Amino acid sequence: MTRTPLPGRVYEVIPAFETYLKGELRACQASWGPFYYTEAPADALGGLVFWNRNTWLDPFRVEFSSISEAVAVLRSIQRNWWPSLFTQFRRGALISAQLPPLSLKPRPFPWLLPDVPMGAWTLLAAHTMLASASAASPFPGGMIVFAEDTQEPPSRAYLKLWEALVRCRRWPGPGERCLDAGASPGGWTWALARLGAEVIAVDRAPLEDRVRAMPGVRFMAHDAFTLNPADIGPLDWLFCDVICYPPRLYGWIEKWLAAGICNNFICTIKMQGTPDLETTRRFAAIPGSRVVHLSHNKHELTWMKVGTKGNGSPEAALPPPPDA
Ligand SMILES: C[S@@+](CC[C@H](N)C(=O)[O-])C[C@H]1O[C@@H](n2cnc3c(N)ncnc32)[C@H](O)[C@@H]1O
Repeated sequence: MTRTPLPGRVYEVIPAFETYLKGELRACQASWGPFYYTEAPADALGGLVFWNRNTWLDPFRVEFSSISEAVAVLRSIQRNWWPSLFTQFRRGALISAQLPPLSLKPRPFPWLLPDVPMGAWTLLAAHTMLASASAASPFPGGMIVFAEDTQEPPSRAYLKLWEALVRCRRWPGPGERCLDAGASPGGWTWALARLGAEVIAVDRAPLEDRVRAMPGVRFMAHDAFTLNPADIGPLDWLFCDVICYPPRLYGWIEKWLAAGICNNFICTIKMQGTPDLETTRRFAAIPGSRVVHLSHNKHELTWMKVGTKGNGSPEAALPPPPDA
């Protein structure tokens, strides 16, 4: 058995956005199925890489002679390993069967994500494995499935908000003040009001009546971008899912950051046509923040900046996660 560390990173494509990843990487040293490998540092790429399902942070290659040898290599490193197979499915299944199981059951919300590394591996050939003990996404294969509520929320947009909050490991709690810009028909507002937060929901279109009637919800029929921080006052959380060009969102967010009266931000950067990489990089450069493609995002990215105050997550009160 030989194990060789690779000095670069492995990026896993989002099938619908493979061309965007290729554009970000410009050139890569190798590619295998849905994986692109590059040793170019972020600076050489012009910044971070956003359009990927997952980034393998410390990849290594293993040449192995038997299934049990491949299993032993992974087990010797940690418990959690997700199989991202694109070939060698039978051999992959045999390896997978000997690794500790990962629960794929739909998650409730709120759900406190366990703080344990989630590795990933694949087979390149019958005796060649590519793996990484740590990855940018904390979810197996970069995906999370929630136990959906198909009755109450007026849209499925709440799923990306849940995913962002789970990744942040915190969420608004009772009494926390939130602004939800571009709130209608009301999926995000519904999710926030359910947590007991106070929500100022702003949209030019109406909010669904049943969401508007939820305790803690106040609706403002208004252009979100003509609202200034002074009009709203101190906030614990600012959420924005407005459909607009990214520079418009950036300019508005700059005002809130300058005002210094909000601790936590989650905003969707909606792309119109070709992704606006320049503005995305400006968002990602805001200290203490990051931009990711959530598994519930479509032609959009999510900017998240979570501060130290305004944490309403009842972490201590949550039951321990059943497993990883
Ligand atoms: C993708 S939808 C939001 C969905 C919402 N987050 C949910 O969970 O149901 C985008 C919303 O942005 C609103 N919008 C677009 N431009 C706006 C603006 N300048 N100010 C406020 N809302 C705006 C639209 O009316 C639309 O309701």
